[in-house]
Amino acid sequence: MTLKYKNIVVLTGAGISADSGISTFRGQDGLWENHRIQDVASPEGFAENPELVLSFYNLRREQLLDSELKPNPGHYALAEVELACLAAGGQFTLISQNVDNLHQRAGSQRLISMHGQLQSALCPASGQAIDWTGPLNLGDKCNCCQPSNQLRPDIVWFGEVPYYMGECMEALENADLFVAIGTSGQVYPAAGFVDAANAAGARTVELNLEKTSHDFDEAIEGSAAEVVPDFFENLLA
Ligand code: APR
Repeated sequence: MTLKYKNIVVLTGAGISADSGISTFRGQDGLWENHRIQDVASPEGFAENPELVLSFYNLRREQLLDSELKPNPGHYALAEVELACLAAGGQFTLISQNVDNLHQRAGSQRLISMHGQLQSALCPASGQAIDWTGPLNLGDKCNCCQPSNQLRPDIVWFGEVPYYMGECMEALENADLFVAIGTSGQVYPAAGFVDAANAAGARTVELNLEKTSHDFDEAIEGSAAEVVPDFFENLLA
């Protein structure tokens, strides 16, 4: 099978997990409706009220252990297109802003979690991250430092630098297809990835419930669980 595109970069946001039952941030009754971002998603908020921040992420981490929570066809389609692309000698990079584990559970291998992951805890001094699936509470300390430090959620907060930006920009500079899925494009640097892809001469496509104001060659409106499999099936046909 020959692939029309050899260097595919996909960016996902909360919208791809919405069909699995995980709230987005800025939609109706979104996560930010109940909290001020600076209170629960900033280093200052964590310093000010660590218990509030830890409980916000404990609730979201606990949701991942719910047996009802599963990847949806949008997540599975991305894992399949990754395999097909690599089998055809192409490059495939999945960059996610999401911190849930649904891409991993769907089988995606080449995943860049640029905003961190819920099921990981971070030592603020060493920068070491460790797997953490249960509640993270005050008193949970690292074992990499003497004296040990209070662990924090391994989440990139507002005002912090996202992970793997070098890898993201390198993938975008070489892309011939860039697809943004389920993201409002309101938070940089991810919101600027489409501009880098356009500058690289890539075809840029947005799959979302509703079109955003960003400059994509094409916008396909619909729910990710439907439009993502359709889009990539046509691509691989
Ligand atoms: N299918 C496709 N798109 C959807 C669906 C769905 N079922 N449901 C919602 N969407 C779209 C919305 O139209 C919106 O454009 O998903 C997007 C969700 O936007 P946000 O809630 O802003 O989430 P996201 O873009 O991922 O936020 C980016 O902001 O708050 C920070 O760090 C947080 O990673 C997050 C970043």
